[in-house]
Amino acid sequence: MKSRRDFIKTTAAAGAGFTLLPSGTLFDKDKESKLRLGFIGVGLRGQNHLELALRRNDVEVVAMCDIQQVMMDSAMELVNKSGKTKPQLIMDGPLGYKRLLENKDIDAVIIATPWEWHTAMCLDAMNAKKYVGCEVITGMTIEECWELVHTSERTGMPLMMLENVCYRRDVMAVLSMVRQNIFGELIHLQGGYQHDLLEVKFNNGTQPYGGGVEFGEKGFSEARWRTQHSVNRNGDLYPTHGIGPLAMMTNINRGNRFTQLVSYATKSRGLHNYIVKKGGENHPNAKVNFKLGDIVTTMIHTASEETILLQHDTNLPRPYSIGFRVQGTNGIWMDVNKSIYIDGQSKEAHRWEEAQAWFDRYDHPLWKKYGSDAAGAGHGGMDWFVLNAFIESAKRKIAPPQDVYDAVTWSAITPLSESSIQMGGASVEFPDFTKGQWMYRKNNFAIGDDY
Ligand SMILES: NC(=O)c1ccc[n+]([C@@H]2O[C@H](COP(=O)([O-])OP(=O)(O)OC[C@H]3O[C@@H](n4cnc5c(N)ncnc54)[C@H](O)[C@@H]3O)[C@@H](O)[C@H]2O)c1
Repeated sequence: MKSRRDFIKTTAAAGAGFTLLPSGTLFDKDKESKLRLGFIGVGLRGQNHLELALRRNDVEVVAMCDIQQVMMDSAMELVNKSGKTKPQLIMDGPLGYKRLLENKDIDAVIIATPWEWHTAMCLDAMNAKKYVGCEVITGMTIEECWELVHTSERTGMPLMMLENVCYRRDVMAVLSMVRQNIFGELIHLQGGYQHDLLEVKFNNGTQPYGGGVEFGEKGFSEARWRTQHSVNRNGDLYPTHGIGPLAMMTNINRGNRFTQLVSYATKSRGLHNYIVKKGGENHPNAKVNFKLGDIVTTMIHTASEETILLQHDTNLPRPYSIGFRVQGTNGIWMDVNKSIYIDGQSKEAHRWEEAQAWFDRYDHPLWKKYGSDAAGAGHGGMDWFVLNAFIESAKRKIAPPQDVYDAVTWSAITPLSESSIQMGGASVEFPDFTKGQWMYRKNNFAIGDDY
């Protein structure tokens, strides 16, 4: 099989004038070199990435920046435990990250801050000529999404959104099955974020999770910032874990694209009920009016005439599931019942079959090769893969497997769903961030066994 590197070289030549790959000094390194990394935001997610980065011999953590001492202290504990050199520590208020970006010894940054900071930090980092890996949600408005695209194109600096679910082992096995036509022609897909986050949204830090009913300044970790989004906004606030893998399976921005979107939201009950249950009717937060509907359902239509259904469901008691479904002319996979049915191949007609044997058979080459390296990494190992892809691309200074067009296309679902809901479920046009190049680009995500 053609390696990803060869692929990028050939597509770079074929797609002259469009590719993000700049020429010259930016591409003079090879995979043996060390990547000098800066961390912007070392809260709970930043610490996950930090821990994995510290395990590697090809990464030097040069600087870390945050605005909370408690998070910086936990991050430093990880550094001390690793025995690695102490990085430069920057605690200089909300704009202190700009000092980190001035450090010429830093090649690349990992941004793991609240969503509302991502665009400004990504823009500043690309302008400072850093290779950027940003946690999920890059661009909270369509204007921000375009600004990220234009800045990446102008500076030649890649932006990878660190969407880890694309690397989940079963998801990658299904991707292999899709590529080998096991499901036939794809017709309909589903996913989303169906995760009871009540204990995350109200967390005062006295226990790992679920202390009290506070958020904002009295909250800990995501309760400090994420909950406020549920007060102010009504839309699919967290689409990327569901859509990332489905977009890769349907070749979005690479021969296919999202064309239209519609969203509906239910009433909002879960967040208020939780506050009353835990804090009583007289708790001041019981008066907060949450705008976010408990379940937001979004339907996306693609140029190849598939439908993709996404659900955001984070405020009601329920077990976790992304709720994947991949269905084509020959068969179907659903993750909630861990089952597959392939016409003519499944043991019994019309009956679900346990999916595991299929996953073993179609295990992705990346997992076969690196599964043991990923053991113990977060979210069943997929966190290792997403960070590895970022580090390997940044070391070689080549386009990352998930690029700026993916980052903004997946993130744009939020503002588009907010608009659709505001207009009573009206259909909204999906912007084409590739400006027509989706017709010519090829899918280079996880095509080999390298990264
Ligand atoms: N991919 C995943 O599986 C996954 C899991 C968890 C979180 N996330 C994402 O990671 C990001 C961070 O989430 P988290 O759970 O770590 O939240 P967190 O609140 O624990 O961490 C955010 C950190 O950013 C710091 N910060 C805020 N403003 C800053 C600024 N101006 N400069 C520097 N630091 C600043 C905070 O002090 C905090 O330490 C979010 O985008 C979230 O959606 C992704």
